[in-house]
Amino acid sequence: GAPVEADISKLEPGQMMRVKWRGKPVWVVHRTEKNLKDMEGLTSVLLDPDSVDPQQPEYCQNPYRSRKPKYLVAVGICTHLGCSPTYRPEVAPHDLGADWVGGFFCPCHGSRFDLAGRVYSGVPAPKNLEIPPYMFLSDTRILVG
Ligand code: FES
Repeated sequence: GAPVEADISKLEPGQMMRVKWRGKPVWVVHRTEKNLKDMEGLTSVLLDPDSVDPQQPEYCQNPYRSRKPKYLVAVGICTHLGCSPTYRPEVAPHDLGADWVGGFFCPCHGSRFDLAGRVYSGVPAPKNLEIPPYMFLSDTRILVG
């Protein structure tokens, strides 16, 4: 499949947009400063906080799983059985637990992921969300693929 471009010039902090790449949904999230700070405190509740499993390109094997901390680019497919998780950036809906600081929730069997696509421990999904290969063409344009 051909690479696909995402124009993020209008993506405000806290917002998420979708593009389609190789038939898969790819999310781009503009994380806020608070999101980044909240994520730091999460490592003990995550299954693979250091992204040891190669679910991302090497250049995204870092705490934010991204090229730039502000922007997450991830394949929006649950690593359990392939449902599409929902974007839940807000804090603490009752069903998501006290340690919830925002991320993605899979409605099919309740898997939870943080805003870097890192899976929480104790949910059905066995791996972090996949990070596709991508690069910045400019400050406001991302090429996925
Ligand atoms: Fe997402 Fe099962 S497919 S939790």
